[in-house]
Amino acid sequence: MAEDQTFEFDVLVIGAGGAGLRAAIEAASGGLSVGLVCKSMLGKAHTVMAEGGVAAALANVDDRDNWRVHFSDTMRGGQYINNWRMAELHAKEAPDRVRELEAWGAVFDRTKDGKILQRNFGGHKYPRLAHVGDRTGLEMIRTLQDHGIHQGIDVHMEVTVITLLKDGDRVCGAVAYDRERGRFRIFHAKAVVLATGGIGRAFKITSNSWEYTGDGHALAYHAGAELIDMEFIQFHPTGMVWPPSVRGILVTEGVRGEGGILVNSEGKRFMFEDIPDNYKSSTADNPDEGWRYVLGDKEARRPPELLTRDHVARCIVREIKEGRGSPHGGVFLDIAWIKEKISKSEEHIKRKLPSMYHQFKQLADIDITTEAMEVGPTTHYVMGGVRVEADSQMSTTVPGLFACGECGAGINGANRLGGNSLSDLLVLGKRAGEHAAKFAGEHGAGGIDQSQVEDAKRWALAPFERFEGPGADPEGAYQIQHSLQETMQDLVGIVRRGDEMERALGEIKKLRERAGKIGVPGNREFNPGWHTALDLDNLLTVSEAVARSALERKESRGAQFREDYPEKDPDKWGKVNNVVRKAADGSMQLKSIPIPEMPEELSKIIKEMG
Ligand code: FUM
Repeated sequence: MAEDQTFEFDVLVIGAGGAGLRAAIEAASGGLSVGLVCKSMLGKAHTVMAEGGVAAALANVDDRDNWRVHFSDTMRGGQYINNWRMAELHAKEAPDRVRELEAWGAVFDRTKDGKILQRNFGGHKYPRLAHVGDRTGLEMIRTLQDHGIHQGIDVHMEVTVITLLKDGDRVCGAVAYDRERGRFRIFHAKAVVLATGGIGRAFKITSNSWEYTGDGHALAYHAGAELIDMEFIQFHPTGMVWPPSVRGILVTEGVRGEGGILVNSEGKRFMFEDIPDNYKSSTADNPDEGWRYVLGDKEARRPPELLTRDHVARCIVREIKEGRGSPHGGVFLDIAWIKEKISKSEEHIKRKLPSMYHQFKQLADIDITTEAMEVGPTTHYVMGGVRVEADSQMSTTVPGLFACGECGAGINGANRLGGNSLSDLLVLGKRAGEHAAKFAGEHGAGGIDQSQVEDAKRWALAPFERFEGPGADPEGAYQIQHSLQETMQDLVGIVRRGDEMERALGEIKKLRERAGKIGVPGNREFNPGWHTALDLDNLLTVSEAVARSALERKESRGAQFREDYPEKDPDKWGKVNNVVRKAADGSMQLKSIPIPEMPEELSKIIKEMG
């Protein structure tokens, strides 16, 4: 094997989706050297799975919108355990970040008078989602990529980071391997930004592709960072359920934003049963109103399908469990009906939802302009992640380590509103890049401890050693990964119970023991069995963090629904976040930390918004 390659940067960004790209652009804008590592090809990122739009109070479609309403919606969606400072920064800065993207060439859909068009989405009071048909995330990635490559960023594609290097408390680089040849790369950097996305692959049914194995979460955890809010996993209400090979692929909320309705096998629009108490004054659906649903306040009209995702996902699960599901274990999502009510033409649907039209036509042989889709919940997003300071996005415990996008946490609390991920990655990605650059400017490069590098390499190569030797027949990684996904799906899924989560923790422990004995045949040249074995360690770490945090939170709030504690507990659990950290003996420690009191001017906004 050739020598390891070593690279020096002021700022190293790990993860090249929207957040990583935005952070890298910002860090590079001041002339610093920036390395950008992506696990697969540049541009292939879960950002593209936020299809329906980016949330920003531009007020182009409804001039009553402003940052205060967006802030209040985000806090309500997160059930008030969000980091309020992050929610404030996000709501205030999102419009500028979207306009900046437009200036960089993003081609948004337009209103009649030429402004960026915005659509309705769950939990947003006004039409707030700036969009490009149903390909918003894709257009954002394209724009950021185009902009980024002109800034001299050094991109390392198909490279996976296996450990962060530390000099004392601070981070000073990373060890990685290239997936094609299996050679090690050592990155020496003054500051490191984690933007690796989510952990969806810990579950069986997910909208996440193979890259999302909680790498950044686990890297940070092992480096001494805290992970916050890990119990909150977002199950997007609408993923494909049929055919089996595409189960979990996202069906954008934009379908419901454009008027799609959810119907059970009895033809009933079941979401009308589930209007929360505070909307009880709502009138029933009126066909003359088209698809619109009238809230008590006649001005703010929205269909019940656009209640928050946690709520809609649970209603779908109930319909399925009680025998009113579709033939393949979902419910029906019907957009075809708006042809009759609104547009009279299938072209309208194809224009608004081009990707959905092709996705269903090609993958399921369904024409969504004439037939209903079958959909069910899919693991989409983790609200939890690295605990960071709101303004800078720097880890609360590891100097020089920053996290943003899905890998950072705080802004979403117990549940994220659709579209906020895209604006969050722009706002907080920019902030992470800016502050990482500042940190790099103010601190020298730490020294690399070669023993940390050698330990990491030895750990990575151990599965090959275990395969060799007479009679060696060790287990591979795939079966263990599969069992973990089943465990998390069945025991720590949408509806949770204490005894089941205890069982899940027992299973995770056993799976970890098995994972420690994995053997991999072959060599380091493109070897997916080896890659899976290394990723599995991260999946086990984040799964334990999810199960422990969910077990500890003895209440139901946002994305966490506990059958054994179905109510919210405002006095105890409404006042704290759960945080996990690696203890000195290597075990996972959990503590609940109080949420700092919200400043008067912000709590006033929430009260005013009702
Ligand atoms: O449904 C969607 O288009 C997803 C958006 C998001 O997760 O923000």
